[in-house]
Amino acid sequence: MRQKKFGSRHTVEKLDCLERYLRAYLKVFEGKDWPHTVYVDAFAGTGEIPIASTYEELPLGIEDKDFIIGSARRALAIDSSFDQYIFIEKKRGNARALEHLKRDYPTKNVRILNTDANSGIQSLCSTIDWKKHRAVVFLDPFGSQVAWQTLEAIAKTKAIDLWYLFPAGLSVHRQLGTQGKVHYTHEESLNRIFGSRDWRTRFIDTVEIAADLFSPAGVGNSKVATPDSVTKYMHERMSSVFAGGVHDKWMPLGQKGGHWYSLMFACANPSPNATKLAMRLAGAVIGSGKRGRAK
Ligand SMILES: C[S@@+](CC[C@H](N)C(=O)[O-])C[C@H]1O[C@@H](n2cnc3c(N)ncnc32)[C@H](O)[C@@H]1O
Repeated sequence: MRQKKFGSRHTVEKLDCLERYLRAYLKVFEGKDWPHTVYVDAFAGTGEIPIASTYEELPLGIEDKDFIIGSARRALAIDSSFDQYIFIEKKRGNARALEHLKRDYPTKNVRILNTDANSGIQSLCSTIDWKKHRAVVFLDPFGSQVAWQTLEAIAKTKAIDLWYLFPAGLSVHRQLGTQGKVHYTHEESLNRIFGSRDWRTRFIDTVEIAADLFSPAGVGNSKVATPDSVTKYMHERMSSVFAGGVHDKWMPLGQKGGHWYSLMFACANPSPNATKLAMRLAGAVIGSGKRGRAK
């Protein structure tokens, strides 16, 4: 089966961060009968990512490989186990590859949903008994696939830790024209991502335009957003629904120095102890390198 080639240095950084969090999370619940732990990978891929980058862009150790190990296989390969793994993948061929992956881990309880991530997550959020379960959800889209309602559904469970690869630069920033023009399909897409129309006043400003030979002076629009300010706005939006908060640091990711995505962490659990621990673990795995900050 042919799979899109997208593996690069930032893919490895993102997956290292997720894996470190999953390992730390499982340690917290090790040996406890309660709660049942679930890992939900909502854009699960196949378990393997074909490498797209050139040799120079790859971290040492994988420069001679064809594949990076993907999120689903990484989660399964950790010795300690979640009580359940739910992999959601829309592409049928990828879902079939996940069925093969599942066979490599016969002792683990794996469920594969060949469906859309938004409907899949929203349905899980409304059917699982969250008094008995705790989960880590990983949203790893290529672009603007994640709808605001999905984030709201996750937040409402009060039981999920979320890692979201938010496409601040690659999707949101690119959908805004330099003169503040936004095509109506992009406008719908932005409303869907943010669950609000307020982005317009945050990302687009009015500017005075000087007269020239052809037109008189007037007022026009200009894009004032950057991938970082777009992430700050998403941080505000998510903070309005995640009772445990959104980590004020995020990991900017992209190729060739570009800020394409922001890897963000949010905690739905309002319990002060749970929040404190989750934020401490997330902060440790996000690390202290060149990172974005909400304040
Ligand atoms: C960036 S890749 C995920 C990579 C994966 N997390 C890994 O580490 O191996 C995005 C995946 O999401 C799938 N996808 C795209 N749109 C989707 C949707 N609406 N619902 C579920 N899966 C989707 C694609 O087929 C692709 O496999």
